[in-house]
Amino acid sequence: MSTYTIQDPRKVTTRRLAEMKAKGEKIAMLTAYDYSMARLVDEAGMDVILVGDSAANVMAGFTTTLPMTLDAMIYHASSVVRGTRRALVVCDLPFGTYQGNPSVALASAIRVMKESGAEAVKMEGGEEIIDSVRLILSAGIPVMGHLGLTPQSINKFGTYNVRAKEEAEAARLLADAKLLEEAGCFAVVFEKIPAALAAKATEMLSIPTIGIGAGGACDGQVLVLQDMLGINQGFSPKFLRRYADLASVIENAIGSYIGDVKSCDFPNENEQY
Ligand code: KIV
Repeated sequence: MSTYTIQDPRKVTTRRLAEMKAKGEKIAMLTAYDYSMARLVDEAGMDVILVGDSAANVMAGFTTTLPMTLDAMIYHASSVVRGTRRALVVCDLPFGTYQGNPSVALASAIRVMKESGAEAVKMEGGEEIIDSVRLILSAGIPVMGHLGLTPQSINKFGTYNVRAKEEAEAARLLADAKLLEEAGCFAVVFEKIPAALAAKATEMLSIPTIGIGAGGACDGQVLVLQDMLGINQGFSPKFLRRYADLASVIENAIGSYIGDVKSCDFPNENEQY
């Protein structure tokens, strides 16, 4: 049973997110990658479910998001869509499916929309991908931007440290955010940037900003589900608040099951035909 009571039971749309920003109502976003978890996340009252390419890390065990494929994203997103009734479902375009070639980008976005049923795509980057963003938007596909720490560029950055601490990079981030807004993006994620910069950008933009490690002034927040539930214990950045210790709960339950099988306690008379 969720501790949050849904205020507005209507299906969440990009338009509704704009209304939320206008009213100063915070936007809650969380990742999900499968049907069962998406059902729980949606029924708890989430506004936006992001099928993140962080699936590469938390579902597939890769150290970066680069190996994620379009087929795998479509598989995850279609599973999430089947478990979601109210939340807006946004699917990441994975590395290599939109950079450098707008026609390829459009084909990737169309596949996501047609084959998964997701309602929008998310893309990492600013000016360098703006032609792809514009072409996808021209096909009627909503785009969420993603600036700051963009994990698909980890090999360029060489580190997962906070981005845009220096003036020049901060100015570039603001210019990119404005460009994405002018192109028609419906929202932008800011990952791991100084809180003051995220606050300035949130004030400057008319579209909602969703922060992860970007402070409380953003119009919304996003976390990775496995991180905030304490399933993924190996990842503890400063911005992460853990809402549960599911690793212990799961390990204890599995340990009990093994013990019961070994001791012939399971199944008992009531658990057989
Ligand atoms: O892939 C992902 O989960 C993301 C969020 C961290 C914003 O892009």
